[in-house]
Amino acid sequence: MKSDKVFNRRSFLKSAGVAAAATAVTLRGAQAAEPDPAIVNVPDHSKYLGEGVQSYPYGSPSKFEAHVVRRDVEWLTATRESSVNFTPLHELDGIITPNGLCFERHHAGIAEIDPAQHRLMINGLVDKPLVLTMNDIKRFPRQNKVYFLECAANSGMEWRGAQLNGCQFTHGMIHTVMYTGVPLKYILAEAGLKTNAKWIMPEGADASAMTRSIPIEKALADCMVAFKMNGEALRAEQGYPLRIVVPGWEGNMWVKWLRRIEVGDEPWHTREETSKYTDLLADGKSRRFTWIMDAKSVVTSPSPQAPLKFKGQNVISGLAWSGRGAISRVDVTLDGGRNWRAARMDGPVLPMAAARFYVDFDWQGEELMIQSRAMDETGYVQPTKEALRQVRGTNSIYHNNGIQTWLVRANGETENVEIS
Ligand code: MTE
Ligand code: CO
Repeated sequence: MKSDKVFNRRSFLKSAGVAAAATAVTLRGAQAAEPDPAIVNVPDHSKYLGEGVQSYPYGSPSKFEAHVVRRDVEWLTATRESSVNFTPLHELDGIITPNGLCFERHHAGIAEIDPAQHRLMINGLVDKPLVLTMNDIKRFPRQNKVYFLECAANSGMEWRGAQLNGCQFTHGMIHTVMYTGVPLKYILAEAGLKTNAKWIMPEGADASAMTRSIPIEKALADCMVAFKMNGEALRAEQGYPLRIVVPGWEGNMWVKWLRRIEVGDEPWHTREETSKYTDLLADGKSRRFTWIMDAKSVVTSPSPQAPLKFKGQNVISGLAWSGRGAISRVDVTLDGGRNWRAARMDGPVLPMAAARFYVDFDWQGEELMIQSRAMDETGYVQPTKEALRQVRGTNSIYHNNGIQTWLVRANGETENVEIS
């Protein structure tokens, strides 16, 4: 105890010295340290005992983080049941989305399911139809994988021009989570696929009984049946107790509250049935079977909800992802595309997961037009919105992966704009 105190005091003095030097040298633009009440006054939490360990059996964020929440856009969905909210990307860092902040998209509200009563049925073109309990599923060999899930409608409101003021709303229909679950190929092998098995159809146990058709090649390649997210049970909002994970493909296919997988020899969904998630081209024709999410990125800070606050040294931070593999580089421009520099990636850069990038820069109050442009390992480069519109017109809602522009004004305020 005694030696601890000596050690703490010494290391405090040492780090205080380092901090003073660092302030002078690197934090250009930071305020000079006048007698600061936050330093010279001893706060209550340093004088009195805090609450003990029994206070919060399940922890929650500090009360000072109460503003970091999912938010919705009132006019966007008419009812609470068919609803969507958005991940507060501008408040997050690293690559993992905390479970309580993962955006939600429900077609019939949240199903409340008792895992003891939950079953997963495998039927159709299999040798041996299966009905598995959650305990059965947990006896298969399992794996841990970090993947992004992006709704195909993410950035959908931006097709016709800059609309929503905040990356939470323009880009927040994405989350990145570490899933624990069973590779679907093990479960399909247990059931035994017939030779004409070409498609699977996962089905949800919510009132929308959502189904999607997925080609068998994808199902066997990397789909999984997940029961944990970021180490703990799936949240009810995310499909508790079971969801299918379809890496890199549009979020709509990741059926939640998964109760059945049927195996067939052709897709169940006709063009009309999938039209919701089909992109309408300028000539009225549809792009069909656009399942893979192309490379995309966004600067999360600064952004409209996270304006620039200081002159001098600043950090630009953002996320990049691709459904076709790992991100190979991200370029950032501060002047609307005249000059680009390679961003610094930090943290794991994993295939079909969001990657974190940074640009450390010096701001002297000049107006900025900040954009980021992602490239993935296939060589695909994120297009401008204009280039996308030339190919796809403006009738689309889905699959808008165009480059986002943030205008930073002299006072640091940041706005969603488009450069024409
Ligand atoms: N699965 C079921 N059973 N019901 C649904 O409404 N919504 C889909 C998909 N899976 C949905 C579903 C859509 S459109 C998306 S984008 C994702 O779930 C959203 O997943 P999340 O709520 O975990 O973010
Ligand atoms: Co969706």
